[in-house]
Amino acid sequence: MPQTHDLIIIGAGPGGYVAAIRAAQLGLDVAVIDENKMLGGTCLRVGCIPSKALLEASERYEEAGHLEHLGVKVKGVELDLSAMLKFKDQTVSTLTKGIAGLFKKNKITHYQGHGTLTADRTVKVGSDELAGEHILIATGSKPATLPGVNLDDDRIDSSTEAIDYHDVPKHLAVIGAGYIGLELGTVWRRLGAKVTVIEYLNRVLPGMDFEMAKEAHKLLKKQGIDFRLKSRVTGAKPTDKGVVIEVKDGEPIEADRVLVAVGRAPNTTKLGLDRLSIKLDDRGRIPVNGDYKTSVEGVYAIGDVIDSPMLAHVAEEEGIACVEKIVTGYGHVNYGAIPAVVYTHPEIASVGKTEDELKDEAHDYRVGKFPFIANGRAKAIAYTEGFVKVLADTHSDEVLGVHIIGPHAGDLIAECAAAMEFGASAEDIARTCHAHPTLAEAVKEAALAVDGRVIHM
Ligand code: NAI
Repeated sequence: MPQTHDLIIIGAGPGGYVAAIRAAQLGLDVAVIDENKMLGGTCLRVGCIPSKALLEASERYEEAGHLEHLGVKVKGVELDLSAMLKFKDQTVSTLTKGIAGLFKKNKITHYQGHGTLTADRTVKVGSDELAGEHILIATGSKPATLPGVNLDDDRIDSSTEAIDYHDVPKHLAVIGAGYIGLELGTVWRRLGAKVTVIEYLNRVLPGMDFEMAKEAHKLLKKQGIDFRLKSRVTGAKPTDKGVVIEVKDGEPIEADRVLVAVGRAPNTTKLGLDRLSIKLDDRGRIPVNGDYKTSVEGVYAIGDVIDSPMLAHVAEEEGIACVEKIVTGYGHVNYGAIPAVVYTHPEIASVGKTEDELKDEAHDYRVGKFPFIANGRAKAIAYTEGFVKVLADTHSDEVLGVHIIGPHAGDLIAECAAAMEFGASAEDIARTCHAHPTLAEAVKEAALAVDGRVIHM
């Protein structure tokens, strides 16, 4: 006889584990299946969290030797890479244990193993068979690669290996100037590697506002990352000494290691979906309706396996909305107000439409910009690069998008996402009292600039 639960979730990443906690709060008996003993999925184990630990540690390492402008002389700064990796691992370990604690608190059962669906809609995990009224697929994604580039966990790596190099590569080639390429390229450049980012397009960060991407490109180049734009990688071959990367119509590039960061692919194979006649779309994703229902009654999907932005916080929101819809009939994700952050220095953050999208839509909009160099706090902390850009409807003044490149942009964007959730106008932000001296005043000033009323410029 199968063991029964109200809700069975396959995958304990941010989508799955957050959905489990919310479902338990709503009174469901919840089981979560994950092959990994450590809960938290890619984001916690090998993605967002460890990469942020390395970004922080490497930033402080680099900065420690360059504080003379603040009147601080530091001599003899040294890198202890194994200690840095240990700090990263401990951060991950503490947080994954925290999730195990939350499961205990919420009486959520964790089955360790690979879950597969059967034709009669039960779920098999090793020798266990589980039956549930509702099944939620939250299996996330894995690194994608390119034809001619085979990940070998040795010199041709994905982000999973690139957060755990035990020596600083002399030359790290990064394929792809997206989120992962720029974040991990930054880490290893700070730690002493020569970093070459090879990108197919004529720009970095596709999908981000072009003006922001242009500024990011300029600043990261100034920091020492070498960019090869308009360069399509067609192959990578390991050699005795390293790797040779082949580029269409260009010179091959030799490196010690190569990080392949060309996107991620949904984990939708080996789940038994074919047994339930669930057909995947052309990119291997699970089609769902607005309630996250698949074509099979009682089977739902959220996060990286469906057609929505591949971001941990999107999966979390979808997980919560999905179980709230199941239990209460109501649940909502506002896809128009999803923030996105690249954790380089400076950080790059955005919410809402890009200026390029507004132009394509022939939308009447106004722009307000404010540079951090004119913000008192930015001056006082000596982080003055970048600017804030607010885009608002010409007629209604509704905020349509905000884009920030600058210090703590990832935190500053939260106010802008909240403003957009409330349907705020640029005037609403401009008339909201912002504490002085804060970086957030740059957001207020950019909102004032929409109406030509900027104060400090
Ligand atoms: P991405 O989609 O952001 O960027 C991939 C880049 O690779 C693109 O610029 C693309 O033009 C380029 N590319 C593709 N084929 C190429 C070729 N043959 N030669 C050269 N360049 C080529 O993918 P990335 O950085 O791997 O990230 C994967 C996912 O993980 C993203 O969807 C992102 O949202 C998520 N993520 C989010 C983070 C955050 O929120 N801070 C951090 C890391 C990842």
